[in-house]
Amino acid sequence: MTTVSHAPAFAEPGVADPPVAGGSRQGLAIRGLVKIHPGPVAALKGIDLDIPEGLFGLLGPNGAGKSTLMTILAGLVEPTAGSVLLDGTDIVADPAFMRKRLGYLPQDFGFYPDLTGRAMLEFLLELKGVRGSGGRRALADELLERVNLSSAAKRKVRGYSGGMRQRLGLAQAIAGNPRVLIVDEPTAGLDPEERQRFYRLLAELAEGRVVLLSTHIVEDVATLCPRLAVIKAGRLMADTTPTAARQAVDGMIHEGFVDDAELPAFAARHRLLSAVLVEGRVNRVRVFVPQQAAAPDGFGLSSSTLEDAYLVLMRCDDDELPPPLVRSRPEATGDQR
Ligand SMILES: Nc1ncnc2c1ncn2[C@@H]1O[C@H](COP(=O)(O)OP(=O)(O)O)[C@@H](O)[C@H]1O
Ligand SMILES: [Mg+2]
Repeated sequence: MTTVSHAPAFAEPGVADPPVAGGSRQGLAIRGLVKIHPGPVAALKGIDLDIPEGLFGLLGPNGAGKSTLMTILAGLVEPTAGSVLLDGTDIVADPAFMRKRLGYLPQDFGFYPDLTGRAMLEFLLELKGVRGSGGRRALADELLERVNLSSAAKRKVRGYSGGMRQRLGLAQAIAGNPRVLIVDEPTAGLDPEERQRFYRLLAELAEGRVVLLSTHIVEDVATLCPRLAVIKAGRLMADTTPTAARQAVDGMIHEGFVDDAELPAFAARHRLLSAVLVEGRVNRVRVFVPQQAAAPDGFGLSSSTLEDAYLVLMRCDDDELPPPLVRSRPEATGDQR
């Protein structure tokens, strides 16, 4: 089990069966993927990753290379080096193979505020060249139903909430029943209730397809994803499960209180993971204490979370990382600088 307090949507009956291994349904296989943007900016420094059926979380801070990876997978950007196979077919050499099987919700999805939800969706379906057996209007209505927007179909997109916009974006992405669904930071800016709705929808959609979700929000992954990868500055830091990641730092997370004025000095001496101000003056602080090190005075052992594991990966040098977190990561093949 993960440490998340929300009921995981994938625990619902019939949702997210275990991935099918072998055959022609292996999912995505990424090997030695490098992308140097003009600048030059090394956005991806050699990524090796297998993404099976079901929900897969790609977790990393801003600038880590998530969108770069996703645009390459979507066939919109060519990699500098490396290969990507979908169910055994090389999609860098044959982008049309992927395009026919892809639903994509980009990070900056453009909306037409003066169109109604239904009109905008019909327009997007036309651009995508998807029609449906009963015609485009019928397909649009069916998709709106699928994402719970039927009652807002005739309202202008201008009046939609962030969550409604994202669900409309998802409606166009799932048109044509794609094998692969790529959603780039879809929950950024959603309020907690909208986020839960979006989670449920994604969990349902992950049945029998490859769904890749990028996010910088650990809760997204903890709630939804049986597997995840962590990337940082273009490098793959972990390819793991929420449980394995959490267990890797178990026994090394300590919590205590530090006066706000003393925090900078404290942070210079310890591996600070998070500091939350309580009543304006004192911080509730979590620290990572590597095996040989001593815990700060007055601190107590705390049960670890996926967030802790993620912050350890972000804040610590490679040689400080606990072995299970490192071991869960395949050998990097690219330039490490
Ligand atoms: N088209 C581009 N040209 C130059 N640099 C880019 C371009 N796209 C992204 N980058 C750079 O590549 C790095 C990774 O960016 P991105 O893939 O957008 O990360 P993320 O989606 O994780 O925030 C960043 O340093 C970003 O500034
Ligand atoms: Mg991005």
